[in-house]
Amino acid sequence: MRSIALTNQKGGVAKTTTTVNLGACLAHLGKKVLLVDLDPQGNMSSWFGLDIHNLERSMYNVFLEEVYFEEILKKTCVENLTLAPSNVALAGVERILAHEKGRDLILKKRLSSVVDKYDYIMLDCPPSLGLITINALTFVKEVFIPLETKVLALNGLVTLVNTVQVVKERLNHSLEVTGIIACRFDSRTNLSNEVYNQIKGQFKNKVFNSIIRENTRLAECPISGKPITLYAPDSTGTADYTDLAKEVVEMESRFKEI
Ligand SMILES: Nc1ncnc2c1ncn2[C@@H]1O[C@H](COP(=O)(O)OP(=O)(O)OP(=O)(O)O)[C@@H](O)[C@H]1O
Ligand SMILES: [Mg+2]
Repeated sequence: MRSIALTNQKGGVAKTTTTVNLGACLAHLGKKVLLVDLDPQGNMSSWFGLDIHNLERSMYNVFLEEVYFEEILKKTCVENLTLAPSNVALAGVERILAHEKGRDLILKKRLSSVVDKYDYIMLDCPPSLGLITINALTFVKEVFIPLETKVLALNGLVTLVNTVQVVKERLNHSLEVTGIIACRFDSRTNLSNEVYNQIKGQFKNKVFNSIIRENTRLAECPISGKPITLYAPDSTGTADYTDLAKEVVEMESRFKEI
């Protein structure tokens, strides 16, 4: 099993778009995939057509240890792809658990019962480095960082990599940034190429070779209730996320012993 947090404290960089579509592509390749929505915005849950304002049970209840994790899971329109939903209630968790002992370890404890049931567990994090993101980083072994290549954002990236390092030292020795993903790549501008080359120069083999191009089909996709593979199978979005999924699977041999 590989556990991956898709994290970037910057908003709107394609964390959710990447979690949904990479997750779907991995499922199409035959992997059993669990997607966990850790964002109070509930964007990933809405994407799969859930009425997030009327969720009976969600990650909120899991964090407060009111229900077992398995009880909140929802099937999606893709075979092998399961979703743990969230909504705005999750925002309350940071405050409620602020002074709780062991608050960073809750997710790890609650998800321990399902780790053997999936090939991939992918966590869509909120755009912050608060308690929920720290819980994600304490549970997973890998961090994928989606980056918007339309803006220079190396400072934010350094902050994030430092946070991962602190969590690794204090809470989770096996944590590694294993993949930086260049998203919203616009080949018509020099900026996208410049940003990609800078990141590649600094973070070398941690940067995926697959690049996710700017594609309006991807922007339209959330309201369709489906991942890009079903909404627009012939789009560049489907091609790019499929390539990325293959590259992710090729890394598996490195994680066999884990
Ligand atoms: N490759 C792409 N081409 C075109 N639009 C894209 C692409 N990737 C993402 N987007 C759009 O960019 C916006 C932000 O994407 P997304 O919601 O996935 O980011 P996020 O990092 O999850 O945001 P937040 O921090 O709010 O959770 C969305 O409107 C999405 O449709
Ligand atoms: Mg998001």
